[in-house]
Amino acid sequence: MQQYFPVEIDSPEAMKDFGSHISRKLASGDVLALIGDLGAGKTHLTQGIAQALGREEAVTSPTFALVNEYTDCSPELIHFDWYRMETPEELLAIGWEDYLEREAILVIEWPDRFPEMIPTGTHCIHIEHINGGRRLSYALA
Ligand SMILES: Nc1ncnc2c1ncn2[C@@H]1O[C@H](COP(=O)(O)OP(=O)(O)O)[C@@H](O)[C@H]1O
Ligand SMILES: [Mg+2]
Repeated sequence: MQQYFPVEIDSPEAMKDFGSHISRKLASGDVLALIGDLGAGKTHLTQGIAQALGREEAVTSPTFALVNEYTDCSPELIHFDWYRMETPEELLAIGWEDYLEREAILVIEWPDRFPEMIPTGTHCIHIEHINGGRRLSYALA
């Protein structure tokens, strides 16, 4: 992945295209952490990943559900939003440890809530606002 970063992306459509592009670098068992403010484009990027993995229906932010499972994707895609979680215990209560064992790609919005819960080897993308668009940068965990 590293060779593509940093990159500037200036529309929601291009954000989805980028998600679809990086989906080819992801395999079952991978965890992708998306770090960025509200409105950074984390859900759009995830939508692009989901579409590239075969999902035809919309991808919405799991802010209220905490987690959305896209079993129509191959590999399956599990989409978390930790924004509304207060403690790591809440994450454990929804089965975080079981999710880590799943044959699936895990994408996390707001991973910075509980850095201690992020497994070694997680791919991280930082998204910043710049001039109406976004700058994405990649760092190994
Ligand atoms: N690269 C981009 N450039 C400009 N606008 C974007 C970009 N990515 C997403 N957006 C817009 O930003 C808003 C928030 O996107 P969303 O994916 O919901 O962000 P997040 O999940 O990080 O809160 C949406 O209105 C979307 O159209
Ligand atoms: Mg979101």
